Amino acid sequence: MSSLRETFTILAIETSCDETAAAIVRDGTEIVTNVVASQIDEHRRYGGIVPEVASRQHILTMVPVIEEALSILPDGLDSVDAIAATYGPGLSGALLTGLNIAKAIAWGRNLPFVGVNHIEAHIYANWLTTTPTNNDQATKAPEPPQFPIIALVVSGGHTMLVLLEDHGRYQILGQTRDDAAGEAFDKVARIMGLSFPGGPAIQEAAANAPGGVTLPRAWLRDTYDFSFSGLKTAALHHVQNWQEREARLTTPQRTPKNDNVPPKAKGISPHIALSERYVAQLAYAFQESVVDVLVTKTINAARAFAATEILLAGGVAANQRLREEMSRRASVPVRYPPVSLCTDNAAMVAAAAFYRFDAGLQSGWDLDVQPNLKLASSGD
Ligand code: KG4
Ligand code: ZN
Repeated sequence: MSSLRETFTILAIETSCDETAAAIVRDGTEIVTNVVASQIDEHRRYGGIVPEVASRQHILTMVPVIEEALSILPDGLDSVDAIAATYGPGLSGALLTGLNIAKAIAWGRNLPFVGVNHIEAHIYANWLTTTPTNNDQATKAPEPPQFPIIALVVSGGHTMLVLLEDHGRYQILGQTRDDAAGEAFDKVARIMGLSFPGGPAIQEAAANAPGGVTLPRAWLRDTYDFSFSGLKTAALHHVQNWQEREARLTTPQRTPKNDNVPPKAKGISPHIALSERYVAQLAYAFQESVVDVLVTKTINAARAFAATEILLAGGVAANQRLREEMSRRASVPVRYPPVSLCTDNAAMVAAAAFYRFDAGLQSGWDLDVQPNLKLASSGD
């Protein structure tokens, strides 16, 4: 039972990475509006996120995004009961823009303010109620998630398995020892010459895949930890071997005349384009390896901790194969947000903030950004 007034409206702001976002959410569940301005086109030419570019874009876009979100409320800020913003983890310059504007609005309007952990926000996207559309079939149960819960958080910056005993009570069971799952998707996509961000590109390429390629899985037995850097290296070597084989097939055999041609340096050759069929096979093999490990470890954790349900969270939770395989193999319900709420947005920040306000938590005006903020239980 909530301790807050009957309808509690939060304006939330998210700027931890490359999305400038503002949302208005009622009672931690009902999305009134969710505005996201993606900077992806600004970063694509660099093949990844450039922190300096991200900060500048947030400064340019933040005010129009907040204005657009507020325009849906007939009384604008007068109808808002509290303000929230992400304060970590993320890029420090990017976080600073959103946190400071949120604090300024709260201070100017004398409203309560709370800082939110971005990882926690991804998990709380599962508390938002949305209307699934035909091409985005979220498994939305009418009831909110029931504790104890196992949450698999898989994004561009994080990969972890979390036991949620209650609101604000977390235990991290395991996490990645090197690359995050989304980071691995992005890096392997780059190796294969696919566009950034790599997750959607690999998913699309894998959809046309014939089998025929297998990549290894890092099990790190008896732990809930993950490792994806070996898989990334295996994908790189696979591409190099494929290119060498192609080069041997297409270049003339050595004769005494050309015998002094130096052996080709190891590495990806830009001159030997990967065939569409090979890209599809490799994308499929990579996705299967990642999904198999993520699903197996999550299901083991759910069994070991008698979880009532499994939640997927973060950008990689948008992955169709991960959703299907988790739902097929789990013996408890699996819930995941619609695709638009898996990647960065501010509605999820409002959802997490609601449970903080409800527990009587607020942040001081001296709250600073914490680029390396860890997920911890409230009060730790
Ligand atoms: O949660 P998010 O928007 O940002 C972070 O907090 O990191 O996640 C972005 C990550 C990127 O690495 C992107 O490649 C990955 O999520 N991603 C996907 C898919 N859609 C986005 N990975 C696999 N399959 C997808 N369909
Ligand atoms: Zn994120």
